[in-house]
Amino acid sequence: MTARDNRGIPRREFVKSAVAIGGTAALAACLDRERSGDDAAAIPTGTDDPTSLPRGQHSWNEFLATDAHGNDVAPRHHLLLSLDYAGDGTPSSDERETVEVALQSLERAFEWSNEGLLFTVGYSPAYFARFDDELPDSAGMADPKALSPFEEPEFDTNDAVVHLASDHGSVVLEAEEALKGSRDEANGVEMDAHLGDVFDFPDDFPGRRTGFVGAGLPAEHQDVAGIPDDVDIDEESPLFMGFKSGFKKNQASEDFVTIPDGPFAGGTTQHVSRIRLRLDDWYTENDREENVAKMFCPAHAKEGKVEGAGDNLGTSSGVEEAGCVESIDDDARNYGKIGHTQKTAAAREDGSPLIIRRDFDSTDKDEAGLHFLAVQRSIADFEKTREAMNGTDQTKHPTIRQRVNNGILEYTFVKRRGNFLLPPRAHRALPEPNPQ
Ligand code: HEM
Repeated sequence: MTARDNRGIPRREFVKSAVAIGGTAALAACLDRERSGDDAAAIPTGTDDPTSLPRGQHSWNEFLATDAHGNDVAPRHHLLLSLDYAGDGTPSSDERETVEVALQSLERAFEWSNEGLLFTVGYSPAYFARFDDELPDSAGMADPKALSPFEEPEFDTNDAVVHLASDHGSVVLEAEEALKGSRDEANGVEMDAHLGDVFDFPDDFPGRRTGFVGAGLPAEHQDVAGIPDDVDIDEESPLFMGFKSGFKKNQASEDFVTIPDGPFAGGTTQHVSRIRLRLDDWYTENDREENVAKMFCPAHAKEGKVEGAGDNLGTSSGVEEAGCVESIDDDARNYGKIGHTQKTAAAREDGSPLIIRRDFDSTDKDEAGLHFLAVQRSIADFEKTREAMNGTDQTKHPTIRQRVNNGILEYTFVKRRGNFLLPPRAHRALPEPNPQ
């Protein structure tokens, strides 16, 4: 098998827990477990030619594993690290150099793939506020805000966020320690600089957020608040709610989400929210038909279109093809409920979804949760998609309430939101609002 095959990785409860705990001891244990012994994972090293890597930090898809249908498969382990610029005033060119050298060291240490490491560095509106110049409109940025009438999220105010993703927990942990400067090398490759010289890393949640996605991982980590004790999450399901997500035809392409012009052309924007899951009723009160109706659409439920976690659907949820976007009013009248996918699929442009979903489950704070990370050309595209998900206009039907019979809103609670600009690689180190 090649590095990019879907390897059907066996249970890794230990590794996932180590990622959640973090620190040098967890890393040592994880390295011991994953990278020594008979079934040691050989982690491919990366490149010392930065020009061989894609222009966009978000260009991940062609470097990911694919499943039997050709869908991109998300890396299994994820870390989100918040960063605060440690200096006064605005960053110097020396500091920019340090950041770029540290990031290039990581790219030498790990192959740019799910078998190595994929990562992005994003900058918040709070970061750009220190400059006299403003970000141009073409950057597509906006302050985070509440995106539904029924949420009161806290907002991310750190200067930057690093997203680390790999199929190997030891890789994201090692990259974290190397970036912080508590390790001089990563994957046997020397780090020529680290970010600890330029940034402070707040330690606890939400400074450090962790997660996982992939068949088997939710089942192994279901022993948290929000998931009833007597329920067995489907071993095949990549997410706590029991269904596969991210079908190829239900994601925007990377080209579609790339900023087309202006100084950040080639980059994109990133929204990161934390959603708490309360799945008691989802798993104990609802039957499968109800859950399929609420996740996809009532017609899919009635026709039994979704088997298990939904792998049988191939490369598309089939909601658009089945006319469920147009039938939403009829569904509300006839079935008394509407589905998450039929609502969100209404937020398309020229047939394409507006966002690429790269979300992953989490047990941070010992609660079942999901870090909903998405990239899109502008934050407005995310807001438009979220507005469609709210389904507020459907409350004109007596059976549909703002959170009841309205997709998955009854079971999901938004706790945090943050917006970040992911500059193209060329400007990823402490950018000015108008880099040349
Ligand atoms: C617990 C949280 C969530 C879960 C478990 C979930 C799950 C799913 C599933 C199973 C699908 C259908 C399969 C697919 O198309 O990949 C889907 C579609 C989708 N979801 Fe979610 N979702 C969640 C939250 C969100 C949020 C917060 C947004 C954005 C505001 C969102 C946006 C979308 C979009 C855009 C689609 C595809 C629509 C299209 O085909 O155009 N989802 N989701």
